[in-house]
Amino acid sequence: YAPKIVTLSTWLKNSTHTTVLTGAGMSTESNIPDFRSKEGWWNNIDPRTVATTDALRNNYDLFHEFYSMRINGLRECTPHKGHEILADWEHKGHIQAIATQNVDGFHYAAGNENVYELHGSIHKFRCENCAKSAEEEDFLSKSNCKYCGGKLRPGVVLFGEMLPEGSWSESLSHFRKSDLVIVIGTSLEVYPASQLPQMTNGKTVYINVEVNAHNHNFDLIIEGKAGEVMKLVDELV
Ligand code: NAD
Ligand code: APR
Repeated sequence: YAPKIVTLSTWLKNSTHTTVLTGAGMSTESNIPDFRSKEGWWNNIDPRTVATTDALRNNYDLFHEFYSMRINGLRECTPHKGHEILADWEHKGHIQAIATQNVDGFHYAAGNENVYELHGSIHKFRCENCAKSAEEEDFLSKSNCKYCGGKLRPGVVLFGEMLPEGSWSESLSHFRKSDLVIVIGTSLEVYPASQLPQMTNGKTVYINVEVNAHNHNFDLIIEGKAGEVMKLVDELV
């Protein structure tokens, strides 16, 4: 086994409080595109035209088309081995919490319970006007809110919106008391999720297929695919 794999498995076995931060790179092996890789969403769509409150208010057709496409694209996707390993590690007490930027719900689907969805969930829907919850089929069929006639939207955090207060504050407290933080499949481009790894005094590990400017100050950097790296580490814990 590569030395870095051995080191991570040792740190994982010896840690008392481990928190994981995941991004879109955790789900690309489930065939869900990420955002900033060469085949990511933001290569042929400018996020500011679809993933913003402005798009929701002033360009609803494009907003609706983008999120409908993502919802339908998710239908035939399932969590991969890497998601299952994180659930197994939670049940074995190796990790205490996952903070995710992903909206696909795959950590819950794989069996993790202590998950904080920093950017909400694409499986929830609400009225933009009265905030009452709505059904997926009402959103997909472009129905208006049945209570007030307002526009429906998925429960994801758009650029310009605040993160869900509970998810953010709970995640922060986990990172602060962690002696090990493992960051998987995120470019760390987007604030404020990108600040979480710096909140710990513990050891920090970055698992990603590419290394960029944002992750120079990690204690351990493992270049590779999330699922593949985690399978190797799992064989040693
Ligand atoms: P922000 O202004 O802090 O982040 C903007 C980031 O978005 C930039 O750092 C850049 O990396 C990225 N970005 C903007 N335009 C881009 C482009 N054309 N191509 C590639 N990347 C681009 O975002 P914010 O307004 O503070 O957002 C608040 C929160 O909402 C953030 O945590 C963000 O992650 C989240 N968010 C969620 C979604 C979603 O679909 N779930 C989409 C956007 C933002
Ligand atoms: N294994 C490991 N890393 C991977 C894999 C993989 N199989 N596939 C892709 N990656 C890496 C990419 O190289 C990239 O560095 O994961 C990272 C994904 O980064 P982004 O596409 O920027 O996704 P993310 O960091 O989650 O974006 C943050 O931006 O648009 C907003 O709200 C949206 O939550 C998203 C936020």
